[in-house]
Amino acid sequence: MLRLLLVLVIYASALSLALWRGGLRSRFSPARTASGAGVAPPARVLVVGATGGTGRELVSQALERGHHVTALARNPLGLGMEHPRLAVVRGDVLDRASVDAAVRGQDGVLVALGHRRYFPPSRILSEGTRNLLGAAAAHGTRRMVCETSLGIGDSAGRMGLAYTLFVIPVVLPFYYWDKVRQERLIAASRVPWVIVRPGVLRNGAKRGVRRHGPGVGSFLWTPAIARADVAAFMLDQLTSDAYLGAAPGVS
Ligand SMILES: NC(=O)c1ccc[n+]([C@@H]2O[C@H](COP(=O)([O-])OP(=O)(O)OC[C@H]3O[C@@H](n4cnc5c(N)ncnc54)[C@H](OP(=O)(O)O)[C@@H]3O)[C@@H](O)[C@H]2O)c1
Repeated sequence: MLRLLLVLVIYASALSLALWRGGLRSRFSPARTASGAGVAPPARVLVVGATGGTGRELVSQALERGHHVTALARNPLGLGMEHPRLAVVRGDVLDRASVDAAVRGQDGVLVALGHRRYFPPSRILSEGTRNLLGAAAAHGTRRMVCETSLGIGDSAGRMGLAYTLFVIPVVLPFYYWDKVRQERLIAASRVPWVIVRPGVLRNGAKRGVRRHGPGVGSFLWTPAIARADVAAFMLDQLTSDAYLGAAPGVS
């Protein structure tokens, strides 16, 4: 039993190291002045992963902020929202033609893509993001904001001990590795980008983002945040240059 535990700790530490080395290590600079590259409301924004937890928050909060929203969904009926400034289009991030059609004409793209196919290894996040980035670059999208997770790059280990030693190495190793690929593709693209790394996501009302930037999260305790707060922070990144080209954590 003790031997098994030791093997798990060694494997988990090696994976954390790989996620740190493989993932993005941002250069955070003091708040920059507005470059005008952002997209002030009313803008045209595409929400990818719109039927998901964060995605739904992104759609409703973007509408509240006055944006014209396009929601990309594999099953448009699954969104169940109607609004004069909301268009729901059928699409799959793995299908380049549907991605291209959805991205065309958008000022900003908000990505809250996720899935539950943890085994076998998949490239849904990275390949989907590759397609989005290709279309965004081709159509001159002014900003992409993408949700990944704490636990990658310079935030490795910051999902707390339970995630570092058990959840990520045992349940989510391939999923997190695909997030590493996803972040690297974004960082290498010429589309102006912000990556947002939350702790564990909770449903429920906004409580306000207490901490954001580098050093967010804990090596011991699992940090948490409401999806509603992540969505609000992501929407803020459309208009702010404070984290342009960086991957702040949020909790
Ligand atoms: N859960 C946590 O505690 C936690 C912590 C940190 C970070 N995160 C990350 O945060 C992100 C958002 O998580 P969430 O729980 O809010 O989202 P979610 O409920 O898992 O929703 C994911 C969305 O992605 C969509 N999607 C999946 N595959 C797609 C495809 N091929 N084409 C188009 N859309 C596709 C889903 O559409 P369908 O409705 O069609 O499936 C859904 O709308 C994920 O990347 C997740 O890993 C989660």
